[in-house]
Amino acid sequence: MKLLVVGGGGREHALIKKLKENPSVTEVYALPGNGGIAADATCVDIGAKDIDGIVRFARENAIDFAVVAPDDPLVLGAVDALAEAGIPAFGPRANAAAIEGSKVFAKNLMKKYGIPTARYEVFDDAAAALAYLESAPIPTVIKADGLALGKGVIIATTRKEAQDAVRSMMEEHAFGASGDRIVIEEYLEGPEVSVLSFTDGKTIVPMVSSMDHKRAGDGDTGLNTGGMGTVAPNPYYTPAVAERCMQEIFLPTVRAMNAEGRTFRGCLYFGLMLTKDGPKVIEYNCRFGDPETQVVLPLLETDLLTVMQATVSGTLTPDLVRFRAGHACCVIMASEGYPAHYEKGYPITLPEEVLPSVYFAGAARKDGETVTAGGRVLGVTAVADTLADAVTAAYEKVGQIHFENAYFRHDIGARALKAEE
Ligand code: AMP
Ligand code: GLY
Repeated sequence: MKLLVVGGGGREHALIKKLKENPSVTEVYALPGNGGIAADATCVDIGAKDIDGIVRFARENAIDFAVVAPDDPLVLGAVDALAEAGIPAFGPRANAAAIEGSKVFAKNLMKKYGIPTARYEVFDDAAAALAYLESAPIPTVIKADGLALGKGVIIATTRKEAQDAVRSMMEEHAFGASGDRIVIEEYLEGPEVSVLSFTDGKTIVPMVSSMDHKRAGDGDTGLNTGGMGTVAPNPYYTPAVAERCMQEIFLPTVRAMNAEGRTFRGCLYFGLMLTKDGPKVIEYNCRFGDPETQVVLPLLETDLLTVMQATVSGTLTPDLVRFRAGHACCVIMASEGYPAHYEKGYPITLPEEVLPSVYFAGAARKDGETVTAGGRVLGVTAVADTLADAVTAAYEKVGQIHFENAYFRHDIGARALKAEE
């Protein structure tokens, strides 16, 4: 089978490595992929947002199955366009990808169907938003409606910060049209859990839970990033919490999307906050998380391609998705300065034997070498029977990988280890 994977980050590298475990896979193309993914797939210089280019490539190369991983092409209708061209594609159609593409849509969906989430107000007018903030409880959370590269969420701890966020989004258009409408919502507290799931619109099968580490610095300090590391499973996500999430959040979400005529087929990601009043949805993503995927897929025991095909064809069953007992830890190695300014173009050296544990993100090929080409350069994952061993093993591998200006957090998994006690 000839596969095509749209995207070019560590998540896509993890998907490709897992998909290739199926012996019927003869060829994998990554659009655009990256210089590190190139060892595992044929990278083609077609951007993830170039929907026409993606469909043309899939047709011309007789692709049997496509996986659209990033949010942008999903929201832009890549799966719709591939399906129209007769190419089965994993991922939601554009009308279902709106669950991530529009925060206002997601919040209104949750309100309409009684799915627990933070209380909120929607504004499309800066003056009204600023007036509301005069008396809103602080801290508060300001969210741009549309996609904003994961940066459209501001946790304001003072009234002034909240007002500045509104002005920057609505008057200075910091996130372009994504900030023309905003959500102002209640600040929630509690441990965060990421739960990815497969759903074909009838059945929903959660994957092993995980914990992201979003801040750049040790001890959860510094700027928000795309994610500096992950562990799975998440110790806060007990079987009792999981059952409650299934009944109060997962099943109601699938039913709500069906009722709206927006059946979701693909990977539905639940960003949850376990508050003292129970689990609440912080955000939905219409795709696999990055770097959650880099700890979840290494624990998947069953065949990923089979699960994805069943998801697309509406024949998903829970027995297709089985995880091994044990733990995984992924440490992201970034370029010093990320997520702000950083230098790139430095050669990456690593011993052959750690390569299977490495998922490349910001990497390019230059003069026969793999060099750094982005903020998040790569992720290193280790799997072990205990979380402590997975963390230790991941950092041992990190110690064997070198590039100038390498930066990584030293405490990935520390919070989870503490919670285990
Ligand atoms: P997002 O960019 O949507 O992933 O949000 C970034 C982060 O902001 C989340 O992972 C949470 O840690 C935090 N966050 C979002 N909404 C809330 C909220 N209502 N209360 C507290 N924290 C939040
Ligand atoms: N790691 C969070 C995300 O993929 O949105």
